[in-house]
Amino acid sequence: MTGKITAPAIKARKGGDKIRMITAYDEPTASIADRAGADIILVGDSVANVVLGRDDTLGMTIDEMVYHTAAVASADPNALIVGDMPWLSYHTTTKEAVHNAGRLVKEGKAEAVKLEGGEKRLDVIRAVLDAEIPVMGHLGLTPQSVHAMGGYRVQGKQAAAAYELITEAKMLADAGVFAIVLEGVPDVVAKMVTEEIAVPTVGIGAGSDCDGQVLVFHDVLGMHQKRTAKFVRQYSQLADIAVAALEQFFADVQSGEFPGEAETYHMPEESAAILRELSEESPSLPGAGLVTDSFLADEAMEQ
Ligand code: KIV
Repeated sequence: MTGKITAPAIKARKGGDKIRMITAYDEPTASIADRAGADIILVGDSVANVVLGRDDTLGMTIDEMVYHTAAVASADPNALIVGDMPWLSYHTTTKEAVHNAGRLVKEGKAEAVKLEGGEKRLDVIRAVLDAEIPVMGHLGLTPQSVHAMGGYRVQGKQAAAAYELITEAKMLADAGVFAIVLEGVPDVVAKMVTEEIAVPTVGIGAGSDCDGQVLVFHDVLGMHQKRTAKFVRQYSQLADIAVAALEQFFADVQSGEFPGEAETYHMPEESAAILRELSEESPSLPGAGLVTDSFLADEAMEQ
């Protein structure tokens, strides 16, 4: 592995090359993201929606997030691995928040954590940073506040709310977060935040002026048929490609076209001849001890 990306390296990208961030939830998706050149892989609690089929992210537990983070880490990516802290894993006491952030690092092998919220979360952010864990902030449309917001609504549309959001972004930056996700805010607000704070902003539905952009893996690649938000651009329709591929597989099974010669193992001709002889001598059952099965696991991989 070369060129491992770290939280300080992301922070140093402020105003430079745009930061490329994408979610991933397991080894294959993390490997794909890393091969494509992601700077940050976020093991988002959006796994609830796009992998686990849930309506919101609120049911995610720290155990589930540790599980998915560890799966991502097993891809050994160059990208920075950020583990998302699920709802209620950092809302009770700072002690519990540090413990849970620590689990994402210790057991999940995350290299930073992300948590949602502004001023109310400052104590927790400071405590997690004190434990030497880099923290990424998340402001604007914070999905864990769905009930408090009255739905998934664009935030900071009115001047007062926008001003509050900018103030909170400054507080988070001053507290020491290495970057802030801005989700579902008007472009002009995201631009102002980006200009006002010394750490990078990563936008999702926040216009083009942020220091980077993030989207959800399954949304970008069209891996589901759910309605996507206005801010999603789909670069592929992998679900349709997968359905077509499986339809072809099933058709080949039906027609007998699969498996073919290339997917079939053969026995050496002399062994086949002995086997035929044995079964002719004793048509019911050949003596098990007489036939040596020389099949090795490696052989199964032979082309
Ligand atoms: O959980 C997630 O995927 C996120 C991103 C949308 C930023 O928080």
